[in-house]
Amino acid sequence: MTNPKRYTLTAALPYANGPVHIGHLAGVYIPADIYARYQRLCNQDVLFVCGSDEHGVPVTLRARAEGVSVQEVVDKYDKLMKTAFADFGISFDIYSRTSKKIHYDTAQEIFKKMYENGKFEEKTTEQFYDESTKMFLADRLIMGICPKCSHPDAYGDQCESCGSTLSPDELINPRSMVSGNAPIKKETKHWYLPLNKYENWLREWILEGHKEWKSNVYGQCKSWIEQGLQPRAVTRDLDWGVPLPIPNTEGKVMYVWFDAPIGYISATKDYFQQKNADENAWEKYWKDSETKLVHFIGKDNIVFHCIIFPVILKAEGSYILPENVPANEFLNLESKKISTSRNWAVWLHEYLVDFPEKQDVLRYVLTANAPETKDNNFLWKDFQDRNNNELAANLGNFVNRVFTLTHKYFEGIVPAFTQNPTENDLKTIEIIATFPKKISDSLENYRFKEALGYLMELSSIGNKYLQDNAPWTLAKNFEENKDRINAVMNLSLQIIANLTILMQPFLPFAAQKLKNALHLGDFFWNETGNIDMVLTGQKIENLGILFDKIEDESIAKQVQKLLDTLETNKLAEKTTESKSEKTTEKFDKTPILENILPSKAEIVFDDFMKMDLRVATILHAEKMPKSDKLLKIRLNTGLDERTVLSGIGKDFAPEEIIGKQVCVLINLAPRKMMGEISQGMILMAKNTDGSLAFVLPSKTVENGSDVN
Ligand code: MF3
Ligand code: ZN
Repeated sequence: MTNPKRYTLTAALPYANGPVHIGHLAGVYIPADIYARYQRLCNQDVLFVCGSDEHGVPVTLRARAEGVSVQEVVDKYDKLMKTAFADFGISFDIYSRTSKKIHYDTAQEIFKKMYENGKFEEKTTEQFYDESTKMFLADRLIMGICPKCSHPDAYGDQCESCGSTLSPDELINPRSMVSGNAPIKKETKHWYLPLNKYENWLREWILEGHKEWKSNVYGQCKSWIEQGLQPRAVTRDLDWGVPLPIPNTEGKVMYVWFDAPIGYISATKDYFQQKNADENAWEKYWKDSETKLVHFIGKDNIVFHCIIFPVILKAEGSYILPENVPANEFLNLESKKISTSRNWAVWLHEYLVDFPEKQDVLRYVLTANAPETKDNNFLWKDFQDRNNNELAANLGNFVNRVFTLTHKYFEGIVPAFTQNPTENDLKTIEIIATFPKKISDSLENYRFKEALGYLMELSSIGNKYLQDNAPWTLAKNFEENKDRINAVMNLSLQIIANLTILMQPFLPFAAQKLKNALHLGDFFWNETGNIDMVLTGQKIENLGILFDKIEDESIAKQVQKLLDTLETNKLAEKTTESKSEKTTEKFDKTPILENILPSKAEIVFDDFMKMDLRVATILHAEKMPKSDKLLKIRLNTGLDERTVLSGIGKDFAPEEIIGKQVCVLINLAPRKMMGEISQGMILMAKNTDGSLAFVLPSKTVENGSDVN
């Protein structure tokens, strides 16, 4: 869209189930804020909305974990996030909540219109129901054994151990997380959004019409569409959420992913309501085709913002669609996946306490290192290095030298540029003029890292200009060189003025300090790129140090915090282990010796107890015809006499094993091998060289003795 009339910018509504961390910031809120601030600097009409996503199972799970009511949880985290965002300089025009009446009204109105216009399909299906608590179980509230990796605690929608997407029906031995009981299946009616009916439209709109979307976003959309879309339930049996505007549907609410994105619309309404604006003032931000709607999100939200929400908007009929959905990938912390539940994160509200006045440093590092095209890693060491070597040594150093020299030579009064510029002056002026366009081209295309790179390049150019012209050397003969010193200092100050305006989207706090110190006017983006920004004769203030060094101790403290978290998590795992008699250690251990097999997925005690292991005596053994490996063995199990085929013929001669007491798995389903039925399995240890040894009781016991 060229020349939109206004911008509606949305940043994913964070779940009110935990504080904001650096992953959220790098993925969504910093790029969104840079873009919003940039468009405002371009004198565009911008509405930048966000708010807390207060529904959904994650919120209810958090309440359970903290032992408080859901309301208390959402109130707590809504306040924490709202304050932290504001203190960090995220310039939302509104931070709303999906628990507000305005949101319920908006979501219900949209649902109702779609319902009345026959946009949903009704279906009755069987779903898991917990009889003891009389509730239907959300996918997240069902746990069981993962069918893919046998992890015992997979969720009904996903196994966090192997990452598979699951449906509750696939779980082995499903259990309710509420009561621990096995759930039953019960009929329930729900409303579905028939995504399949929109397949052709989505193909045209995205696959044909939005080839410019980021490749990670476009690629995900393509694969969703090409796999074939299914009708998707947009209602749930829950008591937490927006009630359905349909009679006789008590106990049913909207699916959180139906109501949450509508939260962008209700936040817009909330904004204008709080301004006491005209009742319809919000509408043009959502219904005028000349409005550019952009959703900033993380990659786990792509399908909801590119497929489901647009289908809702399309089906409703009166809304515009997103022009772009610049989703980022994930940020890891010190090479581990960020995790709220495991406290593996740098929390924004804690950062703001530990590093007061250093919002820009984090904004800088998370942009320079943003997971724009692939997952990326946050390292505290890198945070320190980028601050010390880039912000302090490049930008900060340049600015501080120029301020200091201006005070030293001219008592802070901006000197005039020269009538006789050098070749180098002219070249520098020419280069400065190219930066606003370079940076804005990157920003318009959501390449924030690249844009920040250009900003720092301009700072380097300033630094080099100052260094090459060395006014401190010229000042040895001040009167003689006065015109040159004036020129160099004036041009350096003009570069700083350019930097000040151009850095506003990225480093708003430093920009504000500089603006104040330079008494710089409110320039728009298109007014930069020249050398008439700071007025000759203007007195500039003392600036102080713009970016100071971050010392090793404060980094060591942060690293220690993470080490403490690791320690706490380990202890917590040990306690649950002894409580539930099961280990929660992850089973991804790689063995110390090369030829030892890695450990298998964890099982629960019940799984082990399903095996019926007994001591038995070998009564007879013979080689199977046509096999040098298989022995046919007759056993006395104490319960019966039976035949077991065992692949030990290369290691043992039949006659040497007769009379031995061995351990046998007797309830293994019978298997036919080479025409014989084998009823059980003799336990053998396999040495690293492949040779076999019997697992034997250490003294003679009765046949049929239980082994466990
Ligand atoms: N709460 C969701 C998350 O944190 C994002 C919701 S975005 C919205 O993943 F569009 F639904 F609001
Ligand atoms: Zn799994």
